[in-house]
Formats: sequence, C-alpha cells, structure tokens
Amino acid sequence: GAPVRADISKLEAGQRMTVEWRGRPIWVINRTPEMIERTLGIEPELLADPDSSVPQQPAYADSELRSIRPEIGVLIGICTHLGCSPLYRPEPEAAVTDNWPGGFFCPCHGSYFDLAGRVFVNVPAPTNLEVPPYRFEGDDIIVGE
Ligand code: FES
Repeated sequence: GAPVRADISKLEAGQRMTVEWRGRPIWVINRTPEMIERTLGIEPELLADPDSSVPQQPAYADSELRSIRPEIGVLIGICTHLGCSPLYRPEPEAAVTDNWPGGFFCPCHGSYFDLAGRVFVNVPAPTNLEVPPYRFEGDDIIVGE
C-alpha cells in the first residue's frame, strides 16, 4: 500500500504521539537527553533482550535505543504478550516498580518496557515491543514503510 506519514514537528521533548499505520497504533516518542541517559543506564541484566537480538525489527533498530535517531523512538504500541495497549509512564516513579527508569507499563498482566521498548525480565511479555520499518523525510516527517 501507499506509505503512511507522521508529522512530528509539534512533538515536544518528552512527549509521545500515536499515529495509525495500516490499522496498527504507532508510537513516536521524542526522548530528552535525560530520558536517553536513563535508558542507557539500565543494567542489562534487568532486561530480557537488552541488545535486541530477537530478529523482530529492522536492522537500524538493532541497538540499545532501537531507533534511527537517538531522540526519536518509533514503536508499535501493542504489548508482545497478548496485545494490550501499554501506558506511557516516562518518568521514574515507585508506583510502577522498584527503580523504575521510565517507559511503558502494560496494565493487563503487568509487563514493563523501557523508553526504547525493551522488555524487562520476569514479566509475561516475551519480547521487546516491535519497531516498525520507517524512514525520515527531512527533519519532521516519518514515513512508515
Ligand atoms: Fe501486556 Fe499481557 S497483554 S502484559
């Protein structure tokens, strides 16, 4: 089908927007330097697949931040457990879990993901949130492939 586009020119630092690409919710997150630092600072043993070794994503997402640009995260907003919609909980807060670094929390069965969509250990979700194929057109347009 035709490519789908998202205009991120109004996406402020720290915010997330949701767009629909081919019937799926796609999250675009504008990560602040501080959010990136928190994400890179997570102990790898807290994550089930810290290096995104499960081949579920485009090659450019095979990194800790799982994105083309470090600040812009693009993820399919569907929990890899049973398909619920995780909540955006970008700030550290004890209510989610101990030492929560910020990310996504799935309320259905309590899976946690970081701000790169990487899943934590000991939760029901088996893999990281998926990264869809996409590219940039200029600074402000993301095109879903
Ligand atoms: Fe998200 Fe089960 S659907 S934890």
